[in-house]
Amino acid sequence: MSRVAIVTGGASGIGRALGTALVRRGDRVVLADVDGAAAEEAAERLRATGPGTATAAVVDVREADAVASLVTSTAERHGRLDLLFNNAGIGIGGPVEELSPAHWDRAVDVNLRGVVHGVQAAYPLMLRQGHGHIVNTASLAGLLPGPGMAPYATTKWAVVGLSLSLRGEAARRGVRVSVVCPGGVDTPILDKGMPADLPRVPTAELTDARAAITRVSGGRLYGADALAADVLRGVDRNRAVIVAPRHARVMWRLMRLSPGLVLRLQTTIATRGREPAGARPTAPVAAEVSRR
Ligand SMILES: NC(=O)c1ccc[n+]([C@@H]2O[C@H](COP(=O)([O-])OP(=O)(O)OC[C@H]3O[C@@H](n4cnc5c(N)ncnc54)[C@H](O)[C@@H]3O)[C@@H](O)[C@H]2O)c1
Repeated sequence: MSRVAIVTGGASGIGRALGTALVRRGDRVVLADVDGAAAEEAAERLRATGPGTATAAVVDVREADAVASLVTSTAERHGRLDLLFNNAGIGIGGPVEELSPAHWDRAVDVNLRGVVHGVQAAYPLMLRQGHGHIVNTASLAGLLPGPGMAPYATTKWAVVGLSLSLRGEAARRGVRVSVVCPGGVDTPILDKGMPADLPRVPTAELTDARAAITRVSGGRLYGADALAADVLRGVDRNRAVIVAPRHARVMWRLMRLSPGLVLRLQTTIATRGREPAGARPTAPVAAEVSRR
């Protein structure tokens, strides 16, 4: 049966791959993105391939009213909303002492409030329908500590908490909620850097984010199309937490077995290659990190 889906951040990377996989399955998809031209281009390509349909919408997920009207207009047009992928997100990181409140605000506004806005708009509608599935994109950084990317990790842990809490509330009322926690995926986010209108973060400017994420991902990035297939499989099976690829699942398991060990590992990997040799944490310092 053809389903009706909204994918935020649908113009690029994981969102675009999700849109492609949904259209390939025959679904009717709205690619919603702050980059309207890129969303339109992506939708046009998908319309040409089918068998499902795709339309584009310009939406900034930071704006609650805009997200609400996206949800309402989609449901009115198609008669219902089956799937909402709250996927739009940005990377905000750097050493905490170099960050300003503006960095934290931006991370929270897009990565957390953006998801909250989607939930607040779609959940009551799905309750009225008696069905629906909300799929929030967090990150493996929402399950593990993220030294060097505290704002990003903070928002992603919050998205995991929001998703699992809502899942508990929604389960008996016919609405499903899943959270997606990918490891490093090869998408444009890795090359975008910080939003240009925020104060400069010198260390972040010197850091090759793609190389750093590849390092914490076991030396290899995952493909967006492969991840989208994993996500749709997880959604079909109503998984609470969808973690991919395998390396990410191993790290998540390790985190549950030994959080101290994972914190030490993440700290060592995150600082490697960023600080001058003399400033690298010594083994006793790294051990101290995990003891606290
Ligand atoms: N790529 C990775 O390694 C990785 C890993 C884990 C989680 N994620 C998460 O996956 C999601 C998608 O990221 P991606 O890797 O595909 O990045 P991407 O940059 O390729 O795509 C993100 C999309 O979100 C859109 N967007 C950004 N701010 C927006 C806003 N305020 N309103 C609406 N749209 C907005 C962008 O225009 C872009 O099209 C994000 O939530 C990201 O945090 C990515």
